[in-house]
Amino acid sequence: MPAESLPSVAEILEHRLGEEMELNDRHLNPQMGRILRTLGFDKVWKGGEGAHLIDADGERYLDLFGGYGVFAIGRNHPEAIAAVEEVMAARTGNMPQLGVTLLSGVLAEQLLARAPGSVAAMIPANTGTEAVEAAIKIARAATGRPRILYAEHAFHGLTLGSLSINGSAEFRDGFGPLLPGCEPVAFGDLDALERELSRGDVAAFVVEPIQGKGVNLPPVEYLPGAQRLCRQAGTLFVCDEVQTGIGRTGRFLALEHWELEPDLICVAKALSGGLVPIGAVLASRASFEAVFDGMERAVRHGSTFGGNDLAAAAALATLRVLDREGLVERAARMGALLLELTEPLCERYEVVRDVRGLGLMWAIEFGPPAGAGARRLWETVERRQPGLFSQLITVPLFHEHRILCQVAGHHMNVIKALPALMIEEQEVRRFASALEETIAAAERYPRAMARFGLRTGLRAAAARR
Ligand SMILES: Cc1ncc(COP(=O)(O)O)c(C=O)c1O
Repeated sequence: MPAESLPSVAEILEHRLGEEMELNDRHLNPQMGRILRTLGFDKVWKGGEGAHLIDADGERYLDLFGGYGVFAIGRNHPEAIAAVEEVMAARTGNMPQLGVTLLSGVLAEQLLARAPGSVAAMIPANTGTEAVEAAIKIARAATGRPRILYAEHAFHGLTLGSLSINGSAEFRDGFGPLLPGCEPVAFGDLDALERELSRGDVAAFVVEPIQGKGVNLPPVEYLPGAQRLCRQAGTLFVCDEVQTGIGRTGRFLALEHWELEPDLICVAKALSGGLVPIGAVLASRASFEAVFDGMERAVRHGSTFGGNDLAAAAALATLRVLDREGLVERAARMGALLLELTEPLCERYEVVRDVRGLGLMWAIEFGPPAGAGARRLWETVERRQPGLFSQLITVPLFHEHRILCQVAGHHMNVIKALPALMIEEQEVRRFASALEETIAAAERYPRAMARFGLRTGLRAAAARR
């Protein structure tokens, strides 16, 4: 199509709605298209508002996926949109590069004011993985040491450095060789951490306060213990708050639950209201100065768009909305309600193994039922594709209850929710009762569910081929 015939965005949105799947299959990721069709998730999404996605027929779906957790203040919050529009209307001197900007400075000021006293400087980035990459580099340069420790099952992003500290083979396989010197330790195991640290060559231990893959909460003493061991070993303690930060767990940063004082904190995702890509590392003065230690080293790390005005403005609006609407406290309250409503499912249904969460980072884990027949069916479904049982829950939730939620990782029967923090109480209650209804049906009609599972599994297997 010649450039002059390209219609405006408004025209594209109006006239080409409905072509999404076809365009995806032709030019983007056809395997994703097959997954969406297999599960029946191939919807045309026309809009988003608050805690909901809206389809082409105007039907509202409760969005518990939250764009992987970026919509803490809700989709398309008017104040965040206004902030971006204000920057554009002001025609700011964005990204002078050999120069500094006001909005990025104010964002650093505001973020650091909300962070623990151990950090004193901000290094801007554009995504979560980029923030983690920066943390790895800073740790190596600041300590002069090669090794990076990470927790089993960790997820820190998918660029090569972050992938090197990823705890899932499904993501790592085929992309090697990855960074040398990156080694896993069991999440929650302080002895294992101490053993590795004792070699004296570890630059950093990078850890999510609550692991996103599986929503794994740490034992109470783990994170303070890990921080103490890192201090003793001269290793930087790095908290990856990309998913847990910005109010998600009922505190501005999850690390507040344990009063941690990390050397480096990575934030991203929800920080800019889900509107503009963003990321940042909050760094201790000592680690910052060890890296940027002279004029000739002032630009040894950075990126073209890091700290741009659009992202900074959206982030400042997000912080304002969080404060004014009391969303951090709301996350704590709604999260407590969600747990209260869903924890009893463990008692009521054999397949429910665990319900866990902190704030509005929530998960339910399934396991095989006790009866021999039902167990055989479960095993048949799971043999076809480990983790498939969870899809027997997410699919009816979507089609029958208009609730979008996600499986929490590969090969695990864990469903996870990361709703907007402004979710209404009645929507929390609606989710809890829809979930119970769906689980009850799965237990009541295991054969029908298994047939569905096998069909889905076969289609998914065909899609993989
Ligand atoms: C804890 C954590 N760190 C890093 C990342 C990577 O962030 P991004 O996808 O913005 O690169 C994610 C993404 O899910 C995450 O959950």
